[in-house]
Amino acid sequence: MLKSEVLKLLKTSKDFMSGQMICDTLGVSRTAVWKAIKQLRSEGCTIEAVSNKGYCLKEPADILSADEIKGALEGSRIGKELYYYPKTDSTNIRIKELADGGALGGTLAVADMQTFGKGRRGRQWFSPPGTGIWMSVLLRPRFEPGSASMLTLVAAMAVAGAIKEVSGLDALIKWPNDIVVNKKKVCGILTEMSIESDYINYIICGIGINVNHDSFPEDIKNTATSLAIEKGEKICRAELIASVWKHFENYYDRFLQTEDMSQLMDEYNSLLVNKDSEVRVLDPKGEWSGRAYGINAEGSLLVEKEDGSLAKVYSGEVSVRGIYGYV
Ligand code: BTN
Repeated sequence: MLKSEVLKLLKTSKDFMSGQMICDTLGVSRTAVWKAIKQLRSEGCTIEAVSNKGYCLKEPADILSADEIKGALEGSRIGKELYYYPKTDSTNIRIKELADGGALGGTLAVADMQTFGKGRRGRQWFSPPGTGIWMSVLLRPRFEPGSASMLTLVAAMAVAGAIKEVSGLDALIKWPNDIVVNKKKVCGILTEMSIESDYINYIICGIGINVNHDSFPEDIKNTATSLAIEKGEKICRAELIASVWKHFENYYDRFLQTEDMSQLMDEYNSLLVNKDSEVRVLDPKGEWSGRAYGINAEGSLLVEKEDGSLAKVYSGEVSVRGIYGYV
């Protein structure tokens, strides 16, 4: 059909394409091209027309909506209870309130924009509108509080898998829970927990993914990137959200069988960007360097110190950096 041929041409051209060029390429008349453009517009395509320049297809705005997310999540256990916020302070705070009000495990909060996005170690998380995925899930597991930090590793595997599935990009994990593409951060995970005496009341797993940003503020622009920057094209956020939770359900079920990383650690280690490389361990009690080998079943990073001894680095307040930069 002519209109799909015209659409294909406009998609391949990054700039305006003259009407004459479209006619010549497709061997049709100007009137036929004009009719096809009219049809495409009536079907929702935004095609700009400028005299002396021609036609240009505008990328569709990726507008998140509760309906679109619900549709994408169909059949998924996570997100059966879905709260969508065009703007909120932090989805982790929203889930905390919902949890305290008795919400069920699997409840999901997604925002288009956060005004108080929380990062690890008290940092702010850059969460502008129309670009990223800012979401948190409520979990009510029955395992020991000591196992909770491993959920962050499980979530990191899910995000890496989803990014690969939806964008084809090679996403790797920087222990414990940053996802990197081409050595820059595209995702951070903040897991928070409410404990009552010695059992877990609930866990909030908050995930921030830089999806369609085309730039970053000065202070993070050397270490952060987005999937769109790396891929060179925009990614559908609803599809990526659904893929994250599909992967998460699978890894989480396997995690629950042993309540540790024993079934998942080989796969986690194969995704580890720091594996077998020199790292700087940023421990608030004192920094040191060593060679990272991968995680053990408890989710600790095994690092060989300069004196040859093997240290187990627990997550919590510790993170690692590459010797020469972020990775
Ligand atoms: C990090 O510092 O790497 C963790 C960042 C976690 C950000 C996400 S965005 C969704 C959820 N809500 C928050 O306020 N933070 C997490």
